[in-house]
Amino acid sequence: MKKLFAALCLLTAFAMVAAGCGGKKDTAGTDAKKVLKVGTEPTFAPFEFQEKDSKDFTGFDMELIRAIGKQMGMTVEIKNLGFDALIPSLNSGNIDAAIAGMSITEARKKAVTFSDSYYTSGLTIVVTKDNDAIKSLKDLEGKKIAVQIGTTGADKAASVPGAQVKRFNTNSEVFLELNNKNADAVIIDKPVAEYFLVREGKGKDKLVGDTMDAEPYGIAVKKDSKLAGEINKALAELKKNGEYNKIYEKWFGKAPKAN
Ligand code: ARG
Repeated sequence: MKKLFAALCLLTAFAMVAAGCGGKKDTAGTDAKKVLKVGTEPTFAPFEFQEKDSKDFTGFDMELIRAIGKQMGMTVEIKNLGFDALIPSLNSGNIDAAIAGMSITEARKKAVTFSDSYYTSGLTIVVTKDNDAIKSLKDLEGKKIAVQIGTTGADKAASVPGAQVKRFNTNSEVFLELNNKNADAVIIDKPVAEYFLVREGKGKDKLVGDTMDAEPYGIAVKKDSKLAGEINKALAELKKNGEYNKIYEKWFGKAPKAN
């Protein structure tokens, strides 16, 4: 009986020590890095995409946000979401930030807070190589235009009188629609069109018309979140220490325009 009691005591003691250690680990876990949950829609090369047969997210935005996270002492975790799900996901707290070549617009500014701009983009029209009828936005009147849901390209297409706007979840589907001749044109961000034209679209498609609307891209966070300030601080530091330029040159082959 005595022996049993001693054994029980020992066991309890062990359990207490183990629990104590566990508790300690939790509170002392400050050296375990905090996670920054970042949402994106990854069919937007060269900003965010997945290489063939790879689950990893790569591109300019992906490298930039990882560098920003590192600067903030945080580990970046990327979540693959629909483009039109990004803003709702910020507001529900499912993600902390969204980086997705997202243009800073007045309408979006009502729903979320943006960081400082990290890239200046614009929209363009893409048609198949054999199409000589479409040279400008005006020529799209009454035509079929393929776009990604919830984008500024979709808004632009909707402004064309009589146009039939075909909306898709991914840009892979958007370009497929064009090359299957189920759409006359695509309206999309120019750097994404240019990247596509030297890869999958090579020999098939071309850009037409002037670049429309200067669109600055920003990182979105929940409305009024103080995270925007922290991101801005990190971004400014990366611009100062040359890291931003390095990432920019890697993806665009040239130094960013000074502005
Ligand atoms: N810049 C455009 C917009 O903000 C298109 C962005 C699409 N981005 C993406 N990752 N699919 O509406």
